[in-house]
Amino acid sequence: MTRFTVNGRPADVDAPPDKPLLWVLREDLGLVGTKYGCGIAACGACTVLVDGQAVRSCVTPVSEVAGKRVSTIEGLAEEGPQAAVAQAVQRAWIEAQVPQCGYCQPGFITAATALLAQNRAPTEAEIEAALTNLCRCGTYPAMRVALRRAVELTQKGQG
Ligand code: FES
Ligand code: FES
Repeated sequence: MTRFTVNGRPADVDAPPDKPLLWVLREDLGLVGTKYGCGIAACGACTVLVDGQAVRSCVTPVSEVAGKRVSTIEGLAEEGPQAAVAQAVQRAWIEAQVPQCGYCQPGFITAATALLAQNRAPTEAEIEAALTNLCRCGTYPAMRVALRRAVELTQKGQG
């Protein structure tokens, strides 16, 4: 049994300790907003926050999050210290109409939230370093616009 919190609620999961967190979230907890893309930590579709840090849940054994705080796209903007930043990111994403098919977007929004929660004024180089997720639809230019807007909104406290 592994115990941790997901989006502010306690979770007790009876799963093998090496089961990837991605599949625990999707199969055991029914949180299907976190996506499977590659399974080898290459695409970022499975990004969630663990104690505020962006991690790739497809390569994170559930045993590693015992006692920790996990935030998924379902609760990112609802609770936790990153919630206001996540609201700003979501608003900016909507304004810039970023998603195409949408599949990669939960991972991108989660990674962007982690970045802005830790760094309210990231440089282009810092954005490049933090956002290594992949988007098959090529929404990168729109995401750059949205990220700049999210920075503005975050700095104005308008989540
Ligand atoms: S599914 Fe985890 S990084 Fe691609
Ligand atoms: S919006 Fe389709 S993969 Fe990114």
